[in-house]
Amino acid sequence: MRVLGIETSCDDTGIAIYDSVLGLLSNQLYSQAQLHSHYGGVVPELASRDHMRKIVPLIQAALQESGLKGNDINAVAYTAGPGLIGSLLVGACIGCSLAFSWNVPSIAIHHMEGHLLSPMLEDNPPVFPFIALLVSGGHTQLISATDFGKYTVLGQSLDDSAGEAFDKTAKLLGLGYPGGPMLSDIAKCGVKNRFIFPRPMTNRPGLDFSFSGLKTCVARTIGKNDNSRQTYADIARAFEDAVVDTLLIKCCRALDQTGFKRLVIAGGVSANQKLRSKITKTMNQRGEQVFYVRPEFCTDNGAMIAYVGMIRLNSKRISSNLSITVYPKWLLSDLPPI
Ligand code: KG4
Ligand code: ZN
Repeated sequence: MRVLGIETSCDDTGIAIYDSVLGLLSNQLYSQAQLHSHYGGVVPELASRDHMRKIVPLIQAALQESGLKGNDINAVAYTAGPGLIGSLLVGACIGCSLAFSWNVPSIAIHHMEGHLLSPMLEDNPPVFPFIALLVSGGHTQLISATDFGKYTVLGQSLDDSAGEAFDKTAKLLGLGYPGGPMLSDIAKCGVKNRFIFPRPMTNRPGLDFSFSGLKTCVARTIGKNDNSRQTYADIARAFEDAVVDTLLIKCCRALDQTGFKRLVIAGGVSANQKLRSKITKTMNQRGEQVFYVRPEFCTDNGAMIAYVGMIRLNSKRISSNLSITVYPKWLLSDLPPI
């Protein structure tokens, strides 16, 4: 069985083909980062138009890469939400149309289930149960995952996501978009503890996050200091340390609370090296396991959507119909069971 996966929820067009026996056969990605960098953030209308331009050539490239034809595909999985409505509609329309013309099921996939299960694409995949920290541009969530399709959100950001906080702070520091990797880069030259920012919501019980106050701390610190490269690097370092410590504290709390011994970190911010090294060190000390994905699967991609499509296709509980529906604000708790 082979599933074509389509990801167009934000500013990456991702197309992949997953085979139930051979694994990933092709993975094509087009990032719109350069287009949006001129505006300092994603412009939804431009994102939809760019998906329109790229999606068909990428599907052709994915088929070519795998040496397959349309009639070798057994289902089409597409991201139906959450995300930008115009972008989602591009993937949904093409996905459902292809499924109709190939006479195979179309499967609506939840973007965050894609991130959550993305470590399953790696050689040493986690087994259930585990805690998943999903840190992306749109979400920061701690999830208890006890089986495929059985997820409980234990905590989430009440305002900005971790990725959004990275991007907004990078903007304040005059860096480009997406700011996460650039901020992390300059933070490497930052002096530890020259500035110290709070670890929000860690001094009270619970697993929710709040990152929006950190950018106010950053703005205030910029206003009170010189604008030398070193000062900006020191501020970036203080910001990154604050976010990483906060995420780490909450992950440990979620593991303690559930008694689970495995942690999965996925989503764009999970590419952050500081986050990875601190979490790895702590998990080693605790004698517990942590699972990451390779950098190209941390950010949005079609492979994770094709994989979840295969899991859902195998479950035989999919309801494929001809109505093209997207859910820009789809909650993980509203997912149909597997
Ligand atoms: O998962 P993703 O590709 O898109 C969403 O689903 O939102 O995540 C994108 C986010 C952006 O906010 C970007 O700045 C952040 O991931 N990001 C990083 C790093 N690489 C990407 N943040 C911190 N450090 C990084 N190395
Ligand atoms: Zn994402």
